[in-house]
Amino acid sequence: MTTTTECLRLESITAGYGKVPVISGIDLRLNTGDTVAVVGANGAGKTTLLRAIMGEIPTRQGSVTFGSHPLADLPTYRRCKLGIGYVPEGRQLFPDMSVRENLEMGAARESSTERTRRITEVLRIFPKLEPLVHGRCGLLSGGEQQMVAIARALMGKPKLLLLDEPSTGLAPKIISELYATLSGLLKSGLTILVVEQNARAALRFAQRAVVVEQGKITVTGSSSELLADPRMVEAYMGMAGMHVS
Ligand SMILES: Nc1ncnc2c1ncn2[C@@H]1O[C@H](COP(=O)(O)OP(=O)(O)O)[C@@H](O)[C@H]1O
Ligand SMILES: [Mg+2]
Repeated sequence: MTTTTECLRLESITAGYGKVPVISGIDLRLNTGDTVAVVGANGAGKTTLLRAIMGEIPTRQGSVTFGSHPLADLPTYRRCKLGIGYVPEGRQLFPDMSVRENLEMGAARESSTERTRRITEVLRIFPKLEPLVHGRCGLLSGGEQQMVAIARALMGKPKLLLLDEPSTGLAPKIISELYATLSGLLKSGLTILVVEQNARAALRFAQRAVVVEQGKITVTGSSSELLADPRMVEAYMGMAGMHVS
């Protein structure tokens, strides 16, 4: 018998900037090992949702629970320490620093021996980064930089990985490779919540999806249902994602 354990629970969360709520009444549950895609137009509130989960912006109403931990007012670094890894929109790397130094940022509180051990582990996941590890991050291709951003999040040994638009600006072949690598990570029990405007790639990867429109979840379903829905295809799957296999 397999037991399912809950990884993340969002209950009716409302969050925004200043007094203006951007997302409201968001409910979402992920069990350990789940893959969920959040899709929606530019400005719908997808990044705001991830920032609320990370505690980068306060939750005005509702609650975020990670495993058995209510996150309430926990600062972002404590959420990371509990096991939430975050790959922010635009990657947010340090372009003048080396790949290795960027990776070390993801485990800054660990001993240097432990950091080195973890770098070996993440380079095994992204072997293409191995020969680039001493090079400047800003000189890498977009795909390589996205690998660094994901690898940096993995340096914290997360149980849950949040990714914000990982496919932005990447060629279809690179997007496929990236998602294949993420699929490989699921074998180790990782849970993944991915936000994408490139709905097709995300839906092919994730088991389930939600659509966010103007800060609210308006559609939920299995990814296969949503991929087959002509309204979804029209609204969220333009030509840009057509060639991703
Ligand atoms: N730092 C901020 N301050 C004020 N408003 C913001 C900020 N970031 C985003 N917003 C607003 O919140 C809304 C949702 O933005 P965002 O969550 O970034 O959407 P998405 O990631 O779906 O494109 C937009 O109207 C945006 O202008
Ligand atoms: Mg965004």
